[in-house]
Amino acid sequence: MGELRGTHVPVLLERCLELLAPALGRTGRTVHVDATLGLAGHAEAVLEAHPNTVLIGLDRDTEALAHARVRLARFADRIHLEHAVYDELPEVLDRLGYPAIDGVLFDLGVSSLQLDAPDRGFAYAQDAPLDMRMDQTRGVTAEEVVNTYAHPDLARVLRVYGEEKFAGRIASAIIRERERARITSSARLAELVRESIPAPARRTGGHPAKRTFQALRIEVNRELAALETALPAALDKLTVGGRMVVLSYHSLEDRLTKQALADRVRSKGPVDLPVELPGSGPTFRLLSRGAELPGEAEVAANPRAASVRLRAAERLDPEATRQGRTDRERYRRRVKAMHQPGTGSPGSGEDPGSAPGDGNGTDEEGEGT
Ligand SMILES: C[S@@+](CC[C@H](N)C(=O)[O-])C[C@H]1O[C@@H](n2cnc3c(N)ncnc32)[C@H](O)[C@@H]1O
Repeated sequence: MGELRGTHVPVLLERCLELLAPALGRTGRTVHVDATLGLAGHAEAVLEAHPNTVLIGLDRDTEALAHARVRLARFADRIHLEHAVYDELPEVLDRLGYPAIDGVLFDLGVSSLQLDAPDRGFAYAQDAPLDMRMDQTRGVTAEEVVNTYAHPDLARVLRVYGEEKFAGRIASAIIRERERARITSSARLAELVRESIPAPARRTGGHPAKRTFQALRIEVNRELAALETALPAALDKLTVGGRMVVLSYHSLEDRLTKQALADRVRSKGPVDLPVELPGSGPTFRLLSRGAELPGEAEVAANPRAASVRLRAAERLDPEATRQGRTDRERYRRRVKAMHQPGTGSPGSGEDPGSAPGDGNGTDEEGEGT
């Protein structure tokens, strides 16, 4: 098995390393999970940067794992590469004997290996059997979806997962065509989609089949259901100070990520209590302000990065969180007092400009976009 190192540029690599470093660079052994190992570009850089880090790499694609194994051979004594869907992370960690982790990276979507493979059917630009399974050892293929789903189900998949305006028309064209002959090739499907879209609309938004292929891939691989389970499960496994970084490539993935993080960064206690009740404080803080986008240089060097959205978070120390709430409350009282006649003034020496833990004036917290 040859290495595919040269064909793949890891997306936002420097930023991912920077975000993970405080968690993985702590003294003693640290544990990092690469939930979407792929060709192991991110994983290799993490292992190089952190000699005391053990890597657990998951991928549902056996071909990707085989390439990753070659690439990471020199780190053999501190890697575990596992054929698993990322929502199986808790079971994998149990089996390997790691109760908790310090870092986790999700770099979602397909790898360049999958997109470029002439026989896997992910790409509308080249003819191949309509497979699209990331794990070719199990599950239904895109051919089965296209040839068996009823019109409403097909249209829903295209509309929801592909955000395709012409979902109904495309579904109708697919059904007409399959009554004539089974649809088995990516080129035939791409052509059908192109014919279903009105000519003026074909001229905007990239290749007309792009959204349909994305939708089918998400459906075939049950991508969003796995992500919805995997993100909270991975967050639960992080130690205090442990960090998660997620790279999403379309709005549905990013929305699930934003929701999973939002659930952890807000207090669940009553707003007017000066202290957090035990167990009600935020358990994470955001490390990204909204969703971070790639810079121009990154996109120029790596077109795959064009649609990336990065979000990251760190697990908080519960004691510090309780304290943080108290500090915030003191700050609010100070501000209130300053606005009351005869009390507190700019001469008081207190600067209400940055409330501890409020995120004001910091670039580490964000409300999300
Ligand atoms: C974008 S690539 C990762 C590239 C990797 N970061 C690198 O630097 O080479 C995404 C990988 O995640 C895998 N993948 C996607 N969904 C998965 C899931 N639910 N469980 C496990 N692996 C998954 C794909 O098979 C693919 O190899």
